[in-house]
Amino acid sequence: MDIIDLGVGDPDLPTPPNIIEAMIKAVQDPANHQYPSYSGTDDFKVAIAEWYKERFSIKLNPESEVIALIGAKEGIAHIPLAFINQGDLALIPTPAYPVYNIGTLFAGGKPYFLPLLKENGFLPDLASLPDDVARTAKMIWLNYPNNPTAAVADRDFFEAVVKFAHKYNIIVCHDLTYSEIAFDEYKPMSLLEIEGAKDTCIEFHSLSKSFNMTGWRIGFAVGNKEAIGGLGSIKSNIDSGLFQAIQLAGIEALRSNRESISKIKKIYAGRRDIMVKGLMESGFTVIPPKATFYLWVPAPHPYTSVDLATRLLEETGVVVTPGNGFGYHGEGYIRLALTKDENRLTEAIERIKNIGL
Ligand SMILES: Cc1ncc(COP(=O)(O)O)c(C=O)c1O
Repeated sequence: MDIIDLGVGDPDLPTPPNIIEAMIKAVQDPANHQYPSYSGTDDFKVAIAEWYKERFSIKLNPESEVIALIGAKEGIAHIPLAFINQGDLALIPTPAYPVYNIGTLFAGGKPYFLPLLKENGFLPDLASLPDDVARTAKMIWLNYPNNPTAAVADRDFFEAVVKFAHKYNIIVCHDLTYSEIAFDEYKPMSLLEIEGAKDTCIEFHSLSKSFNMTGWRIGFAVGNKEAIGGLGSIKSNIDSGLFQAIQLAGIEALRSNRESISKIKKIYAGRRDIMVKGLMESGFTVIPPKATFYLWVPAPHPYTSVDLATRLLEETGVVVTPGNGFGYHGEGYIRLALTKDENRLTEAIERIKNIGL
């Protein structure tokens, strides 16, 4: 069967050529063949701080408030080891990127799940959290623009988060992996833009999605210096940093970001429009996302997430992700990634229309 895989959030587009050129040059220099510095080279950390200043108007100290990661996933999985002791509570959204929960479990912590419901715009309802839970929680995970729901958060929500974190002395881990994949003039903000956020927040970034670099393994975290320091202590005992040649390619990516990102966004916007229109015509209800390259689509009655994903796979060869794979509150949805070209997406829609759901 000719499979159209819209299951995984792995961009089909190539890494921009100027980044590849920078890598070729860097890999030929023997100075880059030795162990890199654990927390990232000074030049890479300065480039990150400069990008943050330009993009979010936030000033970061490259020495203490920035750390290089071997992909955002690596930092997300490791940070609980620095702060979560046996039995400690971490507040984890559901549905969510699964590593927030898994990292907590690996550290011996206990997840307390925060449902992301459609009626709340897929934002957690912090006001309804029992006081004793909030008082004992050590960490909260957030991710806006969101995978898998494609929801976005506004300034009011982020202000409430920072207030909540101050009140209960909680570390906020904000996964901002999709900061650059946004449409129609919408520009995702950083949680660190909120006054006082640096007292308690760490933000995770990836070059995977913004620059089509999933295979390269490069990301970074910024924010509260104790949180960055804790993550750095764990990492220095587990890995030995990020290949310097990749960091040099990362510097090129961040410095040349405007041109490559605007091209990528246009491509995803075109794909989004084809899929939203096609799915609506096929009887689905789809809200056009403002950001991310995902569509979070309710499964029509009486399908469960898995029933629908299975029927689509077996009868159309289109792979989608059943929402329950992202946690309990993902049930009743499927996620489609816009990671195929317009012809393949049009073909996927034709096949879906033909089976008549
Ligand atoms: C929400 C979220 N965070 C983190 C990651 C991982 O990013 P990286 O490739 O930098 O490890 C992903 C990848 O799909 C993701 O969706």
